[in-house]
Amino acid sequence: MNTEEAIRTRKSVRRFQDRPVPRKVVEGLLDIARWAPSGGNCQPWRVDVAAGRAKKEITEAILSARRQGAEECPEFEYYPESWINPYRERRFQCGIALYSAMEIERGDAEARRQAWLENYRFFGAPVGLFFSMPRALGKGFLMDMGIFIQTLALAAVEAGLATCIQASLAGYPRIVKKCLEIPDDFILVCGMSMGYEDRDARVNNFRTTRVPLEEFVSWHQ
Ligand SMILES: Cc1cc2nc3c(=O)[nH]c(=O)nc-3n(C[C@H](O)[C@H](O)[C@H](O)COP(=O)(O)O)c2cc1C
Repeated sequence: MNTEEAIRTRKSVRRFQDRPVPRKVVEGLLDIARWAPSGGNCQPWRVDVAAGRAKKEITEAILSARRQGAEECPEFEYYPESWINPYRERRFQCGIALYSAMEIERGDAEARRQAWLENYRFFGAPVGLFFSMPRALGKGFLMDMGIFIQTLALAAVEAGLATCIQASLAGYPRIVKKCLEIPDDFILVCGMSMGYEDRDARVNNFRTTRVPLEEFVSWHQ
C-alpha cells in the first residue's frame, strides 16, 4: 500500500470485530509513528495503551460517572464555545450522515445518546490508546500530537487495522489519568480506538466527504 492509498482509505471506524490485536502489532505501529516530525524534535507525545482489564475499568468508570452526572472538563478546549459557519454546518451534516447510516431518527435523542456512549466502550475495539503531552509545553505542541496521531492511524491502515480518533476519550481526564497512572503534569489530549473493522456494521458503511481544493486553497504568484 502506498501513502496515498493509506490516506484515502483511512476512515473512522465505529464498530470493531471481537478479535484481539497482539501487543507486538500495536508496538510495531507505535514504532513507525515515533518517526513523526515535531517542533525541535521534542517528541512531546506520551502514549498509554489500554487493553483487557485496564480498558474495561476505564469504560466502567466513565459510564458510571456519567450515570451519576459527574461531568468533567477536558484539559484543553478542543471545540469552540460557539460555532461559526461553515464549520457548524459541516459538523451538523456529518452528524446527520452518521446517524442516518446507523438508521437513527433525527428526533430519537435516546438512540443518539446510546450511540454516543459507544465512544466510551471504544466501539468494541480491543485496544484503546490515550495520547497526552507535558502540560508545561503549551498548546503549540498540540500540532505535533495531531501529526503523531495521524501517522499512527495511517500505519494502522497499512497493517489492515482500523481506528477512530476520539476527542470524547479526553473528556474524563481525572478518571483516565487515575486508571492509567498518567502524572498530572501531563494533559490528556485525545484517545483512539484500534482494532479490526466490523465490515458488516452499518455505522462503518458511510464515508465522509471533503470540500474541494477551490474552497480552501489560494494561489499567489
Ligand atoms: C481530533 C479528532 C477528534 C475526534 N473525536 C471523535 C469522537 O470523539 N468520536 C467519534 O465518533 N469520532 C471522532 N472523530 C472522528 C471524526 O468525526 C472524523 O474524523 C470525521 O468525521 C471525518 O471522517 P473520517 O475520519 O471517516 O474521514 C474525531 C476526529 C478527530 C480528528
